[in-house]
Amino acid sequence: MTTRRKKIYEGKAKILYEGPEPGTLIQYFKDDATAFNAQKKAVLEGKGVINNRISEFVMTKLAAIGVANHFIRRLNHREQLIKEVEIVPLEVICRNIAAGSLAKRLGLEEGTPLPRSIIEFCYKNDELGDPLVTEEHITAFNWATTQDIDDIMAMTLRINDFLTGMFGAVGITLVDFKIEFGRIWDGDFSRLILADEISPDSCRLWDSTTNEKLDKDRFRRDLGDVIESYTEVARRLGIMKDMPTVIQGGLH
Ligand code: TMP
Ligand code: ASP
Repeated sequence: MTTRRKKIYEGKAKILYEGPEPGTLIQYFKDDATAFNAQKKAVLEGKGVINNRISEFVMTKLAAIGVANHFIRRLNHREQLIKEVEIVPLEVICRNIAAGSLAKRLGLEEGTPLPRSIIEFCYKNDELGDPLVTEEHITAFNWATTQDIDDIMAMTLRINDFLTGMFGAVGITLVDFKIEFGRIWDGDFSRLILADEISPDSCRLWDSTTNEKLDKDRFRRDLGDVIESYTEVARRLGIMKDMPTVIQGGLH
């Protein structure tokens, strides 16, 4: 039986529906891939199913080490139940190795290790192409307070440390990643928790031995084998056995 559900929000790769109880939402992972602010588009069959599982795996591990996040439980191949949050309109990027827009902006060769992990903030606004902003903009426009920024930075570094170890253990280098945070209200008090997703769509993941890209850069840069690479990440994390047979058998 299918029921008509209220759509709350539709983004480029996910849809949010009203959840079964107040304070919850259903996060649906689409197969759609976009890059360069949706100028480039494709449907990558199976991507949503794989990202749903990878994000579930990562969020569950993070919760276990005390990083509060929106994940409640997976519902089916493409959907997970999440806590409803007020999304902070920032894309928080954490980088360990120069790549992508940082390499371009500062004239660094891709693959150059950074002197330390660097956190950047972008204002989440598609029309503007998610421009880089500083703490000054964030606090002046009230997107977040100084305390929020401190909390976000501390959580981001903890997530980076954990994910670097988790991926490192399976031969994957975590080059950089993007995360988002959401506010949860408890009476007059609010706290920030990790939201959105963590998947090969939102991270740069390189094979530690060959530096082969195993993430969305394969799509952005027309390198081919996008789904095969996402599948390889899932395989190394040990979660391929949980995938539907159609994905385990290979989609091509
Ligand atoms: P960048 O080098 O293009 O700024 O990307 C930094 C990281 O953020 C990289 O892991 C990819 C991820 N990312 C997103 O998740 N969404 C985006 O819209 C962009 C531009 C990057
Ligand atoms: N998700 C972004 C877009 O569609 C960009 C990216 O991930 O490269 O445009």
